[in-house]
Amino acid sequence: NLRKIVIAIDGYSACGKSSTAKEVASILGYRYIDSGAMYRAVTFYFMDHHVALTNPKEVARALEQIHISFKVNPKNGTDTFLNGLNVEKEIRKMRVSEMVSQVSTIKHVRTAMVDQQRRMGKERGIVMDGRDIGTVVFPTAELKLFMKADMQVRAFRRQKELLERGQLVDLDDVVENIRQRDEIDTTRAESPLRKADDAVEVDTTHIAFDEQVDEVIRMALARIVVS
Ligand code: CDP
Ligand code: CDP
Repeated sequence: NLRKIVIAIDGYSACGKSSTAKEVASILGYRYIDSGAMYRAVTFYFMDHHVALTNPKEVARALEQIHISFKVNPKNGTDTFLNGLNVEKEIRKMRVSEMVSQVSTIKHVRTAMVDQQRRMGKERGIVMDGRDIGTVVFPTAELKLFMKADMQVRAFRRQKELLERGQLVDLDDVVENIRQRDEIDTTRAESPLRKADDAVEVDTTHIAFDEQVDEVIRMALARIVVS
């Protein structure tokens, strides 16, 4: 007997959450949702429209204007759309990375995103990665993972990804950004990043990507096949 499950992947920045989530979803034939891309898209909109983060009315009005969607592209990546416009490239830029954690502390922003994420997961058969997926968005997810890795390894992996996207960023600047975001994400009042009690911890520092994917698939299958 097979059932569709929800897989929640949380953890620190640049540990391999989204690349693992994407690959696992593709193997299982599940939908992959990058919740971080949603917070990045909101941040991009706020920056573009000069929304005052400390003004709740302005924030609420802006959130009403924001529609986020995803589309799988021919290269097997996922593009993020903000009000019908492909913003995938823009939301990965350092200027957005430098603002996103601040924007993600705002309660109203979080409730709007969580509502939408829960709607996306209603049919189950979904892999979602982020910071609060196992704790807040899907507390009943059948498989929860909490990813971590050494700072230098994470920073190098992220620097390489940025380079592949045509951005050359100093390693020290990447370390600084990851460090700052981890700090804000773990200490904020609204749904801070923390490991859910029933999440499996995965340290990706010394394992190869394929090995990590195999491990997650193995855990997922154990939960998909029920007697
Ligand atoms: O750079 P990385 O892929 O690690 O980050 P991301 O997944 O794109 O998320 C960017 C930022 O969005 C995080 O640093 C958090 O501040 C915020 N975020 C959040 O608050 N809750 C989530 N579920 C996902 C992301
Ligand atoms: O989503 P998150 O910010 O946690 O990380 P990511 O965007 O998936 O980036 C992690 C990068 O490290 C990707 O380029 C992966 O291919 C690479 N990587 C990994 O995720 N796991 C390993 N064991 C080795 C490399």
